[in-house]
Amino acid sequence: MKKLYQNVYLKGKEKAVDLYVENGLFKEIGPNLQVECDNRIDMRGNLAIPPYVDPHLHLDYVYTARKEGAKNETGTLFEGIQRWSETKNDLTVEGLKERAKRAIKAEMLQGVQFIRTHADVTDPKLTSLRALLELREELKDLVTIQVVAFPQEGMYSYKGGDKLVEKGLEMGADCVGAIPHYEFARELGEKSIHKTVELALKYNKMIDVHCDETDDEQSRFLELLATLAYMEGIGERTTASHTCAFGSYNNAYAFKLMKVLSLSKINFISCPTENIYLQGRYDTYPKRRGLTRVKEIIEAGLNICFAQDSIEDPWYPAGNGNLMNVLDNGIHAAQIMSFKDLDNALDLITINGAKTLQLTDKYGIEVGKPANFITLNAKTPFDAVVNRVNVADSVRKGELLFRRAPEVIDTNISILK
Ligand code: FE2
Repeated sequence: MKKLYQNVYLKGKEKAVDLYVENGLFKEIGPNLQVECDNRIDMRGNLAIPPYVDPHLHLDYVYTARKEGAKNETGTLFEGIQRWSETKNDLTVEGLKERAKRAIKAEMLQGVQFIRTHADVTDPKLTSLRALLELREELKDLVTIQVVAFPQEGMYSYKGGDKLVEKGLEMGADCVGAIPHYEFARELGEKSIHKTVELALKYNKMIDVHCDETDDEQSRFLELLATLAYMEGIGERTTASHTCAFGSYNNAYAFKLMKVLSLSKINFISCPTENIYLQGRYDTYPKRRGLTRVKEIIEAGLNICFAQDSIEDPWYPAGNGNLMNVLDNGIHAAQIMSFKDLDNALDLITINGAKTLQLTDKYGIEVGKPANFITLNAKTPFDAVVNRVNVADSVRKGELLFRRAPEVIDTNISILK
């Protein structure tokens, strides 16, 4: 199929252009293209950007926040884990897929086409993993899903945890996960990081660790993860998610840490809405924001992206898959709102996420790449972010996934017209 998507604005370009698509790939990009095609679609002068990427989402937990016994009364991370642990025994592959599909639909209708999800592999039946691997395959034409074999209750704080992670990799998970700050002893946390790197090398997988998701400034597993990734030369395939404790480290230590982080080139994922909500719970005042050093990570030239993490689960009840909302919260909490920051803010939920997922070769509005893009009701990224605009269109492999009708306001008041 040959399709011409007419009249879109691209970042940094003054004039509107057309996107010519052939066999699912961008074939030509430029103003007023004169080409033979089967279909012409007017994109209404909206801004076209690559699709949103949600690089950290727990699809097995979605819509369980109100389940009997799952309500998190303290709002802490650790009660979230406890509530999940106590209520996860009745999972079924079919039930889980149904919930996960509902969440994927919510994200897709808000412009997401790429998701990295964590599957809890501390259930010996590996129900979450089975369900999410099936969905990865079933939905691959509509949405790209990567699955992390994630030991929610630790690798070494009960017997056989590391074996279940390895089994998850053998079954086809894309990434090795860990949760070192949750292990019962520091030594076991360190052991889990060593094991993660060992498994990633053995099975040629990416790494995505829930790393130091705590306000405890003594939680320092990031330095070990970055150092091992650096020594093995796998930093770009390695991700440290959350790293909240980095926001609590003293500056002398943070400065020293920055050197190995830069050498390692690892990726960072921050989950602003969840960690603003979950962290700082043991503080009175001053009360910490709970986020990692987002601004300093950007200034150091390291890759960082934002993610949703939770959609109505025992950790965070208010997630809805809206990456613009996540971005909005993140740039406020991390104080990244210079004009340059705002012009580039969408990178935090698009290209930086694609880089984290190691998808850069196939991602972006460029000739020769898959024709995946969304449009926003704005002319520039700045306007899109300031007005928190909705997604107008989503196109995948050259096909329109959906189109949202423009908002209609019914009024007789002249200033409101
Ligand atoms: Fe998470």
